[in-house]
Amino acid sequence: MASKVIKGGTVVTADLTYEADVKIEGGVITEIGPNLSGDEVLDAAGCYVMPGGIDPHTHMEMPFMGTYSSDDFESGTRAALAGGTTMVVDFCLPSPGQSLLEARQMWDNKSTRANCDYSFHMAVTWWSEQVFNEMPEITKQGINSFKHFMAYKGALMVEDDEMYASFKRCAEIGALPLVHAENGDVVAQLQEQLLAEGNNGPEAHAYSRPPEVEGEATNRAIMIADMAGVPVYIVHTSSEQAHEAIRRARQNGIRVFGEPLIQHLTLDDSEYANKDWDHAARRVMSPPFRNKKHQDSLWAGLQSGSLQVVATDHCAFTTEQKRYGVGDFTKIPNGTGGLEDRMPMLWTYGVNTGRLTMNEFVAVTSTNSAKILNMYPKKGAVLVGADADLVVWDPNKEKTIEASTQQSAIDYNVFEGKHVKGLPRFTLSRGKVVIDDGAVKTEEGHGKFVEREAFSSTNKALSKWKELTAPRKVERTGIPASGV
Ligand code: URP
Ligand code: ZN
Ligand code: ZN
Ligand code: ZN
Repeated sequence: MASKVIKGGTVVTADLTYEADVKIEGGVITEIGPNLSGDEVLDAAGCYVMPGGIDPHTHMEMPFMGTYSSDDFESGTRAALAGGTTMVVDFCLPSPGQSLLEARQMWDNKSTRANCDYSFHMAVTWWSEQVFNEMPEITKQGINSFKHFMAYKGALMVEDDEMYASFKRCAEIGALPLVHAENGDVVAQLQEQLLAEGNNGPEAHAYSRPPEVEGEATNRAIMIADMAGVPVYIVHTSSEQAHEAIRRARQNGIRVFGEPLIQHLTLDDSEYANKDWDHAARRVMSPPFRNKKHQDSLWAGLQSGSLQVVATDHCAFTTEQKRYGVGDFTKIPNGTGGLEDRMPMLWTYGVNTGRLTMNEFVAVTSTNSAKILNMYPKKGAVLVGADADLVVWDPNKEKTIEASTQQSAIDYNVFEGKHVKGLPRFTLSRGKVVIDDGAVKTEEGHGKFVEREAFSSTNKALSKWKELTAPRKVERTGIPASGV
């Protein structure tokens, strides 16, 4: 079997930094140490050898708001690899009324074109006995996480009673519920009011989704999950209010995870004040970009560990698609791209500024996702036996981000003009060199589905306390006569 050696680099993991060569055979890491030899040598001098990035939140070719997101599994995973991300976790989205198993089949069909490995979350977009019955089968098929939308009223939103029922089902089957936490009822009212006042531009999208709607829903989701006895993962945490709810819950022993996006960390709400309609509309996503106060809170959460992973929520729409919302901001397809830029942007604005250590960078871009989603150490590790999903990171390689040179299928980039320092020299997907000093050598269909088993852990830490406070029927004597 032909072997490869990544030579002369510094291995950086979530907890260690050390000089070593890394040997790869059959798509996995077979040796780590000094002076290794192999059939092919990749020169890593001056570079860091890190676990390839894992993006826990993407939407490829997703039917949404009257259209489909424009990156499919081929262009989306090509963009991921170009930026050092070697795995994505995408969302199977059944339309309300559709079987979860059928949605899974649809995503299986689309993902045959993936260039890198991938896994799925399953969305619970409606609630019924059928959904309840299908959930264990979905878990048996390697999907251990179920997403719930508290927003998008009249489309994907689930009510609290449905969410509580679904969370309890997740607890029974060892699955992790995920939540898009925004109060969809309040958003719908604010949208109506803004439109009635003639506020129909993309900036009104941000006004209709203030941080409070996110903070309230995040707290509600966490409390409901705790009552259901299940951990919970809050996607795209963008505000101090949401972060505060997560922080508080973690302090109280509740297993809750928070996922800021690279967009929210590095782009702020001044983008919506841009006079160019297209510029602002291209940045319409939910939750919207926030001000600096919220950004500081997210960075602090990554540093202190109260927020665990950085994702993209990559859901890319072209300018033409964004223009569906001219005259009515509620019709602008929600979503932004970022897959190719997540790692270079986080390195530039996190590691190069001293906000994050290199080890923290690896933790939040890769290892923590692998652990939280139950695929560690197959993914997210530089260890013997782990998949050779690796990035050889050159801290001195620089570029200016431009749509004209990106892999994504859309015609603009929300990070256009940003200068990044820190880029992949090589990206390896299960041992295959797919990015070679800027040259794209991806192979359509190389990506494989990664099964994620059910969890054994639930929120049991407080169960004794719960027993003591469980409702008890009180036996009474001396019942008053009726009518008294
Ligand atoms: O605006 C967003 N985030 N679009 C993608 C769908 C979702 O809510 O995650
Ligand atoms: Zn969402
Ligand atoms: Zn999303
Ligand atoms: Zn292959």
